Amino acid sequence: MKHVEAARAPTGRAPREVPEVEVTLLVNGSEHHLQIDARVTLLDALRDHLGLTGAKKGCDQGACGACTVLVDGKRVVSCLALAAQYEGREITTVEGLSTNGEPHPMQAAFARHDAFQCGYCTPGQIMSAVALVAEGRANSEEDIREFMSGNICRCGAYPNIRAAIRDVVAEG
Ligand code: FES
Ligand code: FES
Repeated sequence: MKHVEAARAPTGRAPREVPEVEVTLLVNGSEHHLQIDARVTLLDALRDHLGLTGAKKGCDQGACGACTVLVDGKRVVSCLALAAQYEGREITTVEGLSTNGEPHPMQAAFARHDAFQCGYCTPGQIMSAVALVAEGRANSEEDIREFMSGNICRCGAYPNIRAAIRDVVAEG
């Protein structure tokens, strides 16, 4: 196990313990009490502790948007957010968009326009699109392109994603 010895060699110190913290997260209208390592990201808290796997882990470094959720209605890349910092904030994931089993208009528009292929980026795209429309920034094709640029789609479904967003804007 040479690599283990090598990993310990530079300092010779035992690894520092990271304290656990208690945090109450308000997700999709429900309170969840968690005791977690202070370093747990919001994305990992949602996926691994609450079983909400809609938000996806793509790059895990804030570059792809697959993990986008809403916090107080604003977009947050949850892979870069520490869960403990979001106590008391209103967190919405893609699982919380539907009402009484009816898909959110943005979800319906994505389905209508076939705005995905593999679907991995789709929850993040939808959350971002919902916030974009609420922000009143989806005023033109260029604006949509610009303000959705933080959400990468490796399948290249961009034209259909923009069409879905335009549709929702047109529906008012
Ligand atoms: Fe968070 Fe890519 S997984 S931005
Ligand atoms: Fe596959 Fe966007 S649909 S990455």
